[in-house]
Amino acid sequence: MIRVNRRRSGVCINQSTSNRKRRVLMAPVSFLQGSNDSEEDMFGDYDSFYGNDSLIAQVDDIEHKYLQDKNIDVKAAGEVVLGNLQSEVHQKEQDNFSGACQKHDSDPPDGNQELTESIFNDLPSSQLLYFEKMNELSSASRTSPVSKGRDERVNSSSDKVRDPLSFYAGAERRSRPTDSSSHSKPALCKAESLKDHLKSAMTGNARAQTLQVSKTKQLKEAVLSEEIFVARKAIESPSVDIGPFYRLPSKVKDLFRQLRGIETLYEWQHDCLTLESLQQRKNLIYSLPTSGGKTLVAEIIILQELLCRQKDVLMILPYVAIVQEKVRGLSSFGIELGFLVEEYAGSKGRFPPIKRRVKKSLYIATIEKGHALVNSLIETERIDDLGLVVVDELHMLGEGSRGAILEITLAKILYTSKTTQIIGMSATLNNVGDLQKFLQAEYYTNNFRPVDLKEYIKIRDTIYAVDSKSENGFAFSRLLNFKYSSNLERADPDHIIALVTEVIPKYSCLIFCPTKKSCENVASLVCKYLKKEFRAHKEREKEDLIKNLKSIGNGTVCPVLKQTVPFGIAYHHSGLTNDERKSIEEAYSSGVLCLLACTATLAAGVNLPARRVILRSPYIGNDFLKKNQYKQMIGRAGRAGIDSAGESILIVQEKDKHLVIFTNPLENCYSNLLLELTKGMQSLLLSLVGLKIAVTYEEVDNFMCCTLLGVQQQLLPKEKSLSEVIKDGLENLIEKGLLKGTISEKDHNSKSALTITPLGKATYKSSIDLAYCNLLYRELRKGLEGLVLESNLHLLYLSTPYDMTFTCSPDWMIYFRQFNQLSAAERKVADIVGVPESFITKKASGQAIRKNVDNAVVNRLYLTFVLYSLLKETNIWSVSEKFNMSRGYVQNLLSSAASFASCLLHFCEELEEFWVYKALLTELTKQLTYCVKAELIPLMEVAGVLEARAKQLYNAGYKTLAHLANANPETLVRMIEHLSRRQAKQIVSSAKYAGSVANTELCLNKKYRTSVTNLAIYPTLMLRY
Ligand SMILES: Nc1ncnc2c1ncn2[C@@H]1O[C@H](COP(=O)(O)OP(=O)(O)OP(=O)(O)O)[C@@H](O)[C@H]1O
Ligand SMILES: [Mg+2]
Repeated sequence: MIRVNRRRSGVCINQSTSNRKRRVLMAPVSFLQGSNDSEEDMFGDYDSFYGNDSLIAQVDDIEHKYLQDKNIDVKAAGEVVLGNLQSEVHQKEQDNFSGACQKHDSDPPDGNQELTESIFNDLPSSQLLYFEKMNELSSASRTSPVSKGRDERVNSSSDKVRDPLSFYAGAERRSRPTDSSSHSKPALCKAESLKDHLKSAMTGNARAQTLQVSKTKQLKEAVLSEEIFVARKAIESPSVDIGPFYRLPSKVKDLFRQLRGIETLYEWQHDCLTLESLQQRKNLIYSLPTSGGKTLVAEIIILQELLCRQKDVLMILPYVAIVQEKVRGLSSFGIELGFLVEEYAGSKGRFPPIKRRVKKSLYIATIEKGHALVNSLIETERIDDLGLVVVDELHMLGEGSRGAILEITLAKILYTSKTTQIIGMSATLNNVGDLQKFLQAEYYTNNFRPVDLKEYIKIRDTIYAVDSKSENGFAFSRLLNFKYSSNLERADPDHIIALVTEVIPKYSCLIFCPTKKSCENVASLVCKYLKKEFRAHKEREKEDLIKNLKSIGNGTVCPVLKQTVPFGIAYHHSGLTNDERKSIEEAYSSGVLCLLACTATLAAGVNLPARRVILRSPYIGNDFLKKNQYKQMIGRAGRAGIDSAGESILIVQEKDKHLVIFTNPLENCYSNLLLELTKGMQSLLLSLVGLKIAVTYEEVDNFMCCTLLGVQQQLLPKEKSLSEVIKDGLENLIEKGLLKGTISEKDHNSKSALTITPLGKATYKSSIDLAYCNLLYRELRKGLEGLVLESNLHLLYLSTPYDMTFTCSPDWMIYFRQFNQLSAAERKVADIVGVPESFITKKASGQAIRKNVDNAVVNRLYLTFVLYSLLKETNIWSVSEKFNMSRGYVQNLLSSAASFASCLLHFCEELEEFWVYKALLTELTKQLTYCVKAELIPLMEVAGVLEARAKQLYNAGYKTLAHLANANPETLVRMIEHLSRRQAKQIVSSAKYAGSVANTELCLNKKYRTSVTNLAIYPTLMLRY
């Protein structure tokens, strides 16, 4: 008998059944151990499946019968229970449905394999899963027909496609074999009560299904048949064929059509998705030109993993802004298809992630956060939960410390999980062979680009088409058609105005410039000579944009933008605040702005397409442009779905002509583990021991062979082998007091285990750069002796990131002025950290200084003053003016300090002696993270809502997440200035999503408050990058 519990909308068992069960369960202690009160409660007033003859009741009886027979040994017991149950269940199902199986009442429990298989074929999946688990527990060394049958099914799809049973999301999962607790009790004790397991399995089923059931007999039967039908279908059909759209339900196809406007896949996308290697879940690297549509393929593979294999997925993207864009773009898919999209960027991300029982998670992370996430999964032995890792822009492997971190992350996954699939994609790969070896991956490539991209180069007034067949790599195309006055010729010798006016305002144009200053200069120059008519184009929208920028800047607009925006022109570089950048990007995307003068960061940033891309010069800063960078920049032109054509023009001076060689191959991607010593090799070695991935010299050596450096050993110094480099690295860590143990001088193959010291653990867990960990430790210890707590200045100094000290040169007058505004106690801070008052005074008055003062400390204190002002005023604009720094720099300092404070907090949490810092740093981290009014914080939790938008929403009455989640997008558009319909919809759906995540986390936190001990170690605010 099925009863609907309307309050909980789950399947219930009534009180009497429950009581009866309790009586039955009174007997042997071993079965009582695992009984779970909360689960009893959950079933308190539930009805049974079959009335008095319910499956549960039968299980009770069998269990009861078995429990009375005390002579049965533990191992055999499991088999007997299982066997009896199999027969009973089978019979019950036979009675109720005209199943395909024959009735075999008299068959022995596990005597007939065929029979047992057929029995299990008829069971609802969650129950089957339970039996499988029981079987595993009860006969560790014996292969049961059940699991064998299942194994065969799974193996038949190359062990790569998840068992269809797993569609029942509520079904219990197998515990990891490495789980030490699973070994501590006899297997059967662990198995708890049979009935309890069935209950939880059925609850799982009930939760997973959204069937509407009624009390009437007919309906109940219909529901039951439905469940059996679904289970049977899932079992019978090969799991690869669960949906018509690349194994996915057709709803996915509809969503791509509705949300992305994608009707059909490109031929290459189809070919790639149906690759044999993908079917076998092999690792894969694929490479296509920019705008080739690589993301769609990755997204389909991700959805397969989440929906078909029911595993979590990690997607690694290079920058915070791209992560946020992707989270916004995939949230609707998550809502529609029932998975969670979790952001791991900026201040977002929880370590380890919450283990979800029902829904699977797609973690979208920056490189640094992705690494921290993988560490936390390895540490909690959950790395196998990660079914798939997708790395976009795989060529980042070759880029400095971020490349090293990416390499470390991937190597750890490869080494610790045999089941996690890795997919990497890029438009600019050259030495694919090395990467394939490193990732043990197959390779797919194609030259497809949906929109033709025409490449040109301009020398003087001549445009040449890039042509690999011609002698220089380019051939004459046309003379530039322009009429310049001699004045204009002097002002614009490179004819930028002529080039841009060929496309704007009708089409969009990007000009990549070598420096931030040149972006602003180019934007000013162009609008200075543009005709008045340009102002008329989208005039009202441009006025709105200015108003918006003004409100972002608390009444101030950057004078350059004020001058350029009316012409539809703006600059875009890291000097803008996040809010300004976002407004400008939105205005450009919607056609209000038609020209952006930008730095190279935009090439890898958010998707801002253009009809024409101009490269102002073949330099980035002082360095000659690399082929990879060039390809990424010009790739912004002619994006599919937005433009029907695209072209790029590289402006080259006569003198540089010979340097531009289009036939050069793309740059190779090399390991950075050695170049980035403290963030690369040393940090890897430390965390290998810390996470117990490899604890002996020999194991570390084995691990290192699996890195990209292991593949590219030609990068090693001539006189040293990889083993020697490892030995040096480990010895260095021992010297620094981060590791303990010895590495034998003579015998490199030492097998003695290394251990991590508390300082080592604090360092790797907090992601503090190894270059600073000892210094930081000393400073914190010194602080214990006399921390000035009159204000947060001293604490702020400790939280000022070391690596930013090299980027600042103090203005001594400002330094002096700020110092003089401090209270007497605060001035002491300067003295304690090592910047005497006399030093500042002398510097400000231009006197010579004899005393030796550490420049790094002086600079750091100056940055502390900036942060101190920011926390007091919460206004980036006025602070940047006060310190004569760009607002982008001030903002960057603020977010770096927030990250560093969070790392510091973790560092202190790991070292008992620093307990006192914990409370102080928790508060400071929050202040730095949300250097805004407290009431805006909840709104800023919504993806895509930055400070300015949060202010607007708050003022319009949307004060909480719930207000936003329940808002009507149309009303939002009317009430909020400069908010498009698309943005309003996104805000509402993101708020709904953020609300649901917050609720789930609240419930989980309540439920697991005692069991998830790590929550205390990894607080929500993990702000590494
Ligand atoms: N099958 C398709 N039909 C129509 N449009 C598509 C299709 N596949 C992708 N697109 C669109 O093409 C554009 C570019 O795709 P995408 O961003 O995936 O390119 P990419 O290969 O990742 O390029 P890049 O290397 O520059 O990042 C997107 O706007 C995307 O929506
Ligand atoms: Mg891409």
